[in-house]
Amino acid sequence: MIECLCLEIEERKHYLSEKTVETIYFGGGTPSLVDSEKIKYLLEKIQSTYKVSQKAEITLELNPDDITEKKITALKNIGVNRLSIGVQSFYDRDLEFMNRSHNSTQAIDAVNLAYNSGIKNITIDLIYGIPGQSMKQWEENLNQLSTLNITHFSAYALTVEPNTHLHYLVKSKKISQVEDSVIESQFKLLQDMSEKMNFIQYEISNFCKKNMMSKHNSSYWEDKWYLGIGPSAHSFNGKERRWNIKSNSKYISRVKNSQVYFELELLNQKQKYNEYILTCLRTKWGVSFDFLNKNFDVDIQNHFKKEIQKWIKQKKVIQNKNYELTKDGMLLADAISSDLFIT
Ligand SMILES: C[S@@+](CC[C@H](N)C(=O)[O-])C[C@H]1O[C@@H](n2cnc3c(N)ncnc32)[C@H](O)[C@@H]1O
Repeated sequence: MIECLCLEIEERKHYLSEKTVETIYFGGGTPSLVDSEKIKYLLEKIQSTYKVSQKAEITLELNPDDITEKKITALKNIGVNRLSIGVQSFYDRDLEFMNRSHNSTQAIDAVNLAYNSGIKNITIDLIYGIPGQSMKQWEENLNQLSTLNITHFSAYALTVEPNTHLHYLVKSKKISQVEDSVIESQFKLLQDMSEKMNFIQYEISNFCKKNMMSKHNSSYWEDKWYLGIGPSAHSFNGKERRWNIKSNSKYISRVKNSQVYFELELLNQKQKYNEYILTCLRTKWGVSFDFLNKNFDVDIQNHFKKEIQKWIKQKKVIQNKNYELTKDGMLLADAISSDLFIT
């Protein structure tokens, strides 16, 4: 796999038109299972093939039970300067339900060990809307955040992905999905408690301390170009969207034999506009009419201006320099986005 990732890195060296790479993100699967020497090898390949900023944000996703002092020190020494730790919950019951291999004590110890081993820019992931998770337990999960040295956290509502064990349990009615009203209450508690802990909600699911946004994630939402390497990886260069084949084995055989291992879609004006609305409306900086003005024709601008009015009237959107969702509007982000889309 590492050899094929390097072949793809080399093959696609002009995809970003020689732009400087500001962020590198090792996500997956489970990059924390990969030996640090192999991560070093990939990093060196990226740095020798692309112009990488000296101040690049280099993130690696880890499972708590893969974290050791030796591993964090090795990652720090090769230039990884941000860790994304998949905690998910501080309740063993939730972790067992989600088939996670770590327990709550390991999760807390892992975050502290990572911080004490020298990487200070740490984000953790939490999941809410878990069947059986009470409001009290969600509140306790959020309270736990204030005891940890973290600069950022992400909180995701549990989604039932197709072909997963959770999907089978829901479909066979062995468990019932959490009601929307419960998820809404958990989201509101998340907003209120994160604010009290001085976290800024800069995107629906992302919260950071002042100036500690994820540069990598923000680039998706700022319509910046990105290059995805590996199975399932997505890329965007302003005119096309491209995604690699999901299967690891097919990816390896096709890259090795110089066969096609991706699909791509050239984006037309409407698709680019819908993408912009979908990604930017979810952020605290919202939709910029200047951007719409510079990048889309007047019909699209007029469509947006007409359709956004009703949401402003309902106080779900506020017009500052940009059009931004209110705290209540964030609960309806998907509904408002699709209402603003051009189909
Ligand atoms: C989206 S990435 C994490 C990016 C990271 N938060 C960051 O800022 O760098 C992977 C995370 O997705 C979340 N996730 C995975 N499966 C999920 C599901 N079915 N429903 C909701 N969240 C899920 C988990 O929290 C997992 O750690």
